[in-house]
Amino acid sequence: MREPEADAPSPALFAFFECLPRQGPGAVEVTRALYDELRAELPARPRAADMGCGSGAAGLVLAEAGAQVTGVDVHQPYLDAFAGAAAARGVADHVATRRASMTASGLAPGSLDLVWSEGAVFTVGFETALEVFMGLVKPGGFVVVSECVRLQERVPEEVRRFWAVNYPGMATVGGALRTAERLGYRFVAAKRLANWAWERDFYAPMGELIAEVEAAGPAALRAVAREQRAEIELFRRYGDVFGYVFFVLARPAPVGLRP
Ligand SMILES: C[S@@+](CC[C@H](N)C(=O)[O-])C[C@H]1O[C@@H](n2cnc3c(N)ncnc32)[C@H](O)[C@@H]1O
Repeated sequence: MREPEADAPSPALFAFFECLPRQGPGAVEVTRALYDELRAELPARPRAADMGCGSGAAGLVLAEAGAQVTGVDVHQPYLDAFAGAAAARGVADHVATRRASMTASGLAPGSLDLVWSEGAVFTVGFETALEVFMGLVKPGGFVVVSECVRLQERVPEEVRRFWAVNYPGMATVGGALRTAERLGYRFVAAKRLANWAWERDFYAPMGELIAEVEAAGPAALRAVAREQRAEIELFRRYGDVFGYVFFVLARPAPVGLRP
């Protein structure tokens, strides 16, 4: 994980993650459960965007649950994979894709009921992303973002050093919530992504890929595999010190507009 607007991801990084079923930690059940909790407050066919959608791990769940989803990502092969999976699962008419940065998606201001983003806002920065998303959702609409955060104020030196290089902007849970509040969001919920989701759906397939790449991959891919192995090892030792948290936030609606 790094901040590519300052430091664009290498072709090898994209090539590595194209081989995986999802590009960040998460699980279908987790996405579905969070969406189900919001369903009663959303229209029957909500207009949604999946920002930094990758190959559509979260967006597909939203589409299958009835949302009209625009997947936004900078990498066309991920968008193609998302569109292909949507067609294969019979929800092509619920999915559109757009190659763009989430900070300049071209989606109309105030046009969305829901902005969703799993494991992707670190690419532009948590605060920048939340600021942009606030402009895209309707009053009363929701923003659901999963973000890698420190789960405690003081972290071991090894963890501090790793993230100082790989994600210097990483906040604490409290810091992230204060940012959201300062931007004018109403807090709805926060939920930590369980460690089994990292392992089952992200690190297990990644571990197999790392082994293949280490055995027979080109040098650039082997370098990516090495970095990813270091991240997995750090997570296995310190998965209670940092982790992903879903922040469920709402753009406040004027009193007269509340249902
Ligand atoms: C860690 S992956 C997460 C992908 C997906 N949400 C998932 O959970 O599998 C981060 C994604 O953000 C995309 N990305 C990077 N910079 C971006 C930007 N400025 N705007 C939109 N997407 C971006 C990358 O191409 C990648 O697909």
